[in-house]
Amino acid sequence: MKIVVTGARGLVGRAVTAHCRDAGDSVTAAGHRELDITSKTAVRAFFEREQPDAVVNCAAYTDVDGAESNPELSLSVNRDGVRYLAGSAKTHRCAFLTISTDFVFDGNAEGFYTEDDVPRPISVYGKSKLEGEHAAAAEYEKSIIVRTGWVFGTGGTNFLSTLKDVLNRDEPVTAIEDSFGTPTFASDLAERIRELLEPGRNGLFHVANSGPGTSYYGFAVAAARILGVDSTKITGVPASSLNRPAPRPANSRLLSINASKLGLPDLPFWQDALGRHLSHIS
Ligand SMILES: NC(=O)c1ccc[n+]([C@@H]2O[C@H](COP(=O)([O-])OP(=O)(O)OC[C@H]3O[C@@H](n4cnc5c(N)ncnc54)[C@H](OP(=O)(O)O)[C@@H]3O)[C@@H](O)[C@H]2O)c1
Repeated sequence: MKIVVTGARGLVGRAVTAHCRDAGDSVTAAGHRELDITSKTAVRAFFEREQPDAVVNCAAYTDVDGAESNPELSLSVNRDGVRYLAGSAKTHRCAFLTISTDFVFDGNAEGFYTEDDVPRPISVYGKSKLEGEHAAAAEYEKSIIVRTGWVFGTGGTNFLSTLKDVLNRDEPVTAIEDSFGTPTFASDLAERIRELLEPGRNGLFHVANSGPGTSYYGFAVAAARILGVDSTKITGVPASSLNRPAPRPANSRLLSINASKLGLPDLPFWQDALGRHLSHIS
């Protein structure tokens, strides 16, 4: 398959590019420099030149706190950029997959959020991502929308890379103990994304590693144990102690019923995925 990956230098974009290349696809990895998705003209020209079979949009404005003071920029990338890509994908009759977030939910649910739950974002970032979902679906009915959360992997700055550095410095660590999500290994996410590009797999899908989910504190303790670092130096703190500009859902754990309906297996447990990742990079 000839696949264009946008936002290809980001955490998820790198994983998708690597996985699809390993799977034998021809991949054009377009970073921000190669394609600014907020330019409708540039998007159109890119599709004309590449003639892809599928486009995976990993480009996004992902600064959750920054979005609170930059709503226009957040919307221009996360909504308008997605719309332009979906429109061109429709014109070229190619598969289009765009990535969204667990932050479209308000966090008040007790258990997991499935694709049937109503999103109610509480941050500018979450709102812009939800508008992007709506834009994709409105522009191109065959869009594939993948919501994921708490992604860790190789490249870029993510909560695991930051944590690993701090743990290795042998300093005390604090981690939020009252926000719960589903950690997701970028490589496992990429594999599922590639599966969803097969014909007939349109619509909304939650993609996250299996298990009951965890808090950032629980994730940090699991990482410390795998790395052989003393986990007692990690202290749980409430999210409110960080005084961050953007509110985050206290619970954004994701579960997919739509992937199960297609007969796709659950992703591996997050602890297994974390172990695989850490053994690979340690
Ligand atoms: N990481 C997570 O925990 C997580 C959780 C849930 C959902 N997601 C979603 O997963 C997707 C990928 O996120 P990520 O974690 O890979 O984020 P990331 O590492 O920040 O990557 C996003 C990429 O998008 C690029 N970009 C920004 N504006 C662009 C534009 N106008 N045109 C083209 N590219 C642009 C960025 O390039 P520059 O840096 O050069 O601007 C960056 O390389 C996003 O949709 C995000 O909402 C991520």
